[in-house]
Amino acid sequence: MSETLNWTSYVDTDSSTEHDRLTLLQEVFDGASQELFDRVGVRPGWRCLEVGAGAGSVARILADRVGPANVVATDMSTALLEPLAASGVRVLRHDVTADDAPGEFDLIHSRLVLEHVARRDVAVRRMASWLAPGGVLLVESATPMPELSGDPVVGRALAAMAGHLGRSVGTDPRWARTLPLPLEEAGLVDCTAEGHVVPARGGSAFARWMIATHRLVEDDVVAEGAMSADEFAHAYRAYSDPAFVDYTWLTIRAVGYRAPR
Ligand SMILES: C[S@@+](CC[C@H](N)C(=O)[O-])C[C@H]1O[C@@H](n2cnc3c(N)ncnc32)[C@H](O)[C@@H]1O
Repeated sequence: MSETLNWTSYVDTDSSTEHDRLTLLQEVFDGASQELFDRVGVRPGWRCLEVGAGAGSVARILADRVGPANVVATDMSTALLEPLAASGVRVLRHDVTADDAPGEFDLIHSRLVLEHVARRDVAVRRMASWLAPGGVLLVESATPMPELSGDPVVGRALAAMAGHLGRSVGTDPRWARTLPLPLEEAGLVDCTAEGHVVPARGGSAFARWMIATHRLVEDDVVAEGAMSADEFAHAYRAYSDPAFVDYTWLTIRAVGYRAPR
């Protein structure tokens, strides 16, 4: 049974709006993911799995490094991954919490997925079990920090968004703060983790992604009475103003290895 709560009630995964939102997300985070790949020494021939591949940029980056035939890209919705399949990457409609092992891998990577998945520690254990001896698991997971916002209304909007995601999707914004413990508990070795904060500078791709993500929940949050439409409009003006900058989004990147045989 799927352990993902209501992801598709939160977003229409097939829509062009979601494609645009994921494209912004990729623009913001791909550089940092590539640094991780450099650090663990991804090289031609490695068998790689991208879990929750979204619009597919990370799987494409991996395909460029290791060869498309060595990459498997999974997601609950594969609508945005057709170009990747055409390039020779194996694309699977696949639930990380429930479906069969999609193979054995030298590298498994997942970004901004597990916080949305119920029983995420089980998902980590499953991914760890799909690693070849000596293989590496990379998990990138976000935890918003609204309390650090320089603008109280912007901070409250972020907190309201995170709270709504928790109630509607089952997203746990604090799970990332436990990394790398879930990797250790899954039996991986040499586990480490670090935080990465992207500035939400008004007008930047990240700020535009913040606006697009707030818009997904705005109507519900306003209907619940937690924030007004005017307050959301205030947050959108801030995220559109180049004179505004905020540091409220921490992505924790964890690395762990399956012991060599
Ligand atoms: C915020 S998006 C991140 C997309 C991509 N990882 C990236 O960083 O560009 C979350 C993705 O996780 C996928 N997802 C959610 N639950 C999943 C599950 N149980 N198994 C596989 N993918 C899942 C969603 O369909 C969506 O594409």
